Amino acid sequence: MGVRIIGTGSYAPEKILTNQDLERMVETSDEWIRTRTGIRERRISDKNTAASDLALEAARRALDSAGVDPSQLSILSVASVTPDHTFPSTSCILQHKLGAPVTCACYDVQAACSGLLYSLQIAVSMLKCRKNARYALILGAEKLSSIVDWTDRSTCVLFGDAASALLLENDGSDEPDMLLSCILGADGSHSSKLCVPAGGSAMPASRETVEGRLHFIRMGGQEVFRLAVNAMTGASRTALQEAGLTVDQIRWIIPHQANKRIMDAVASRLGAQSEQVFVNVDRYGNTSSASIGICLDEIVRGGLVRKGDSLLLTAFGAGMTWGAAVIRW
Ligand SMILES: CC(C)(COP(=O)(O)OP(=O)(O)OC[C@H]1O[C@@H](n2cnc3c(N)ncnc32)[C@H](O)[C@@H]1OP(=O)(O)O)[C@@H](O)C(=O)NCCC(=O)NCCS
Repeated sequence: MGVRIIGTGSYAPEKILTNQDLERMVETSDEWIRTRTGIRERRISDKNTAASDLALEAARRALDSAGVDPSQLSILSVASVTPDHTFPSTSCILQHKLGAPVTCACYDVQAACSGLLYSLQIAVSMLKCRKNARYALILGAEKLSSIVDWTDRSTCVLFGDAASALLLENDGSDEPDMLLSCILGADGSHSSKLCVPAGGSAMPASRETVEGRLHFIRMGGQEVFRLAVNAMTGASRTALQEAGLTVDQIRWIIPHQANKRIMDAVASRLGAQSEQVFVNVDRYGNTSSASIGICLDEIVRGGLVRKGDSLLLTAFGAGMTWGAAVIRW
């Protein structure tokens, strides 16, 4: 039984925060941000918007693109580091807003920027083992502006808000799976290098945690950079090998959009041409679990992929987590 991606959707809030805007907020410059990261602007939600609201728009667009009604969903997952609440899950909140049925399994995935790849493998497996499950909608949804320290120039220039959605179908046909290979990994020994220290059970919210700005993203940028390049390159090589493909047979490489220099380094180590690498970090910044789905949506809606094309997706994020998947479109 073949599982395929039959719909894509993405959504980013209208408000644009440019590098020039940031120049007025912290000691930085458009030139520094562009040359170090490739980012020119990012989208920022208003204060009444939650991750589930961003997810709702992306979900509707993915369902509409395939002509599938929310009532037909059997699986709904949201990957996020900025869920609406600690609990209940954002997927349950989205289920209600979207009008998905109570027979739909709803769960959140926490694998930071690798969340969509983790979600993809989980959903493909669930579609195969859950009786009568035909459609799964998987999302990455992030309101990163809610956990960014807007006084910390080393992190606040990097992130943006957005959501993306992929609609998967198991139609029970003899068509081969679209997922040719999927490599997932993690190394918790690096967990403190990219994290939000407070707000969980290890360090509950208190006056001290708020005053110490411990509810915001903390990151060791240079080390994360090095780990990201190594992990995405290694996972991509294994994913290509397992799919029986070489990099020149890949139409699009879609890396998690964290930083243009990270993407360039991964592409160069893989021996890929720069034209194979899809990049939109300049317009959105790092949108964590949403980024790969936004790229896929832009590729599909732009008519940039044809049936039979092979795509390599690869991601890296806090945890540390990483992954790579080869998809036959
Ligand atoms: C964050 C990152 C862009 C910083 O680039 P870098 O070249 O490593 O820069 P450094 O951290 O070495 O800082 C160099 C200098 O720039 C300064 N700097 C940091 N942020 C700055 C900013 N926004 N504007 C201007 N200067 C800045 C630093 O304070 C430092 O100054 P100093 O030399 O006087 O101490 C880079 O490390 C990176 O992209 N890391 C990966 C982050 C990431 O993608 N995380 C998410 C993974 S999913």
